[in-house]
Amino acid sequence: MTSATSPHAFWLAGRQATGEDTLEVTSPWDGRTVGTVSVPTSAQVEEAVAAAASVAAEFAATPAYVRAAALDHVVRRLGERADEIARLISAENGKPMKWARVEVARCSSVFRWAADEARRFNGGTAQRLDADAGGTGRLALTRRIPHGPVLGIAPFNFPLNLCAHKVAPAIAAGAPIILKPAPATPLSGLMLGELLAETDLPAGAFSVLPVPNEAMPDLVQDERLPVISFTGSVPVGWSIRDSVPRKRVTLELGGNGAAVVLADYSSDADLDWAAQRIATFSNYQGGQSCISVQRAVVDDAVYDRFVPRLIAAVEALVTGDPADEATDVGPLVSEEAARRVESWVDEATGAGAKVLTGGRREGAAYAPTVLEDLPAHTRLAQDEVFGPVMALIRAGSEEEAFAAANDSQFGLQAGVFTHDVQAAFRAHRALEVGGVIIGDVPSYRADQMPYGGVKASGVGREGVRFAMEDYTYERVMVLTGLEL
Ligand code: SIN
Repeated sequence: MTSATSPHAFWLAGRQATGEDTLEVTSPWDGRTVGTVSVPTSAQVEEAVAAAASVAAEFAATPAYVRAAALDHVVRRLGERADEIARLISAENGKPMKWARVEVARCSSVFRWAADEARRFNGGTAQRLDADAGGTGRLALTRRIPHGPVLGIAPFNFPLNLCAHKVAPAIAAGAPIILKPAPATPLSGLMLGELLAETDLPAGAFSVLPVPNEAMPDLVQDERLPVISFTGSVPVGWSIRDSVPRKRVTLELGGNGAAVVLADYSSDADLDWAAQRIATFSNYQGGQSCISVQRAVVDDAVYDRFVPRLIAAVEALVTGDPADEATDVGPLVSEEAARRVESWVDEATGAGAKVLTGGRREGAAYAPTVLEDLPAHTRLAQDEVFGPVMALIRAGSEEEAFAAANDSQFGLQAGVFTHDVQAAFRAHRALEVGGVIIGDVPSYRADQMPYGGVKASGVGREGVRFAMEDYTYERVMVLTGLEL
């Protein structure tokens, strides 16, 4: 596609470049063109990969202060341009401004942590080996070495911050990165490229390439990119991993997060808080987060007092134009996405589920929706809806509640509302997920903590230092003949 305005350049080995084709980015809210993006040719993609491979050794040896300075620069620039970048996220993704601002702040946090980790990482651990006679006078020193250039594949739902989770740890660890933003939302990733291009990183240390999905299998197979970090859909993620079994592949995939409300969470203030948090985080970003609340599992003892509070909190959410500062819930990423959500709700109601509120679509917007009596065989019960829809589940005991939360192919995060520290430990032990959040929804994520799933939700961990570990391996050096 072409446009009258000049297309956004992409970042090829640290410099701006344009290709032959373009792709149009449109607002999910009103369909206007937000920008036109130049798409790299296959020769340009090859150039970026060759540059990443040839700078890999030099970049791995770059002093920590140089990498940290580049990361600090991005933090500074994100602060200076925060409002403009939040508007860009909101325009291309449809995310309400209040959430777009949170995303910019989180992205700053990711780069700040990465700068800190760049300074700390690779301190090298020393081990005396003389516990056995053969190790007398020997010492082992370990440091972490990048596997090589990283291919980062980012989704549309956090178009800035999930790019940051690929890029910042790579730079901190000294691994070149080729970032592929989502086709629906490439502008935020390109903005990150712009900020990185202002630094002294060596040419080839980063590229941001809006490569069409159809061209990705070749990049995935490329042996010069030994690490792949993918966030996106379950089938695509696992097919990538299955297609390159010898590569280091991190997958951050879907979830159908459960928030469990236990019987002890019973005061009016407790139930108000739980209802407020569950209503907000079932619907933030139109439910398009892998850790949004899709299921509320509520103990029988508090169920009847909890449900009216939840419905009131959901109905109080302000829906509408994402550019409006008052809006809580905007559109989904496309009308097609909203139609899919609609068809899943229709299937559920056809099978006997009751709609307590919501259940309407208008263009790309789907109303915040709560269902009860959802039959277990429906798509909504089994899959990730990635929309503003949640189901209530009544549980007769704590054990039943944890079993209901585990009754899922996914295992990303779970939230448990309880004040009982023993129940918190039991939840931590019993729930088959990568993260258990006590006193809050599964949607809580601090960007420095380990983040990732079990079961179909993925493999590997993000959270700056944990991604750096995934991008690197331990190399030992043994010193011999020392007077220890
Ligand atoms: C995701 O949707 O996987 C990311 C959620 C987050 O970073 O808050």
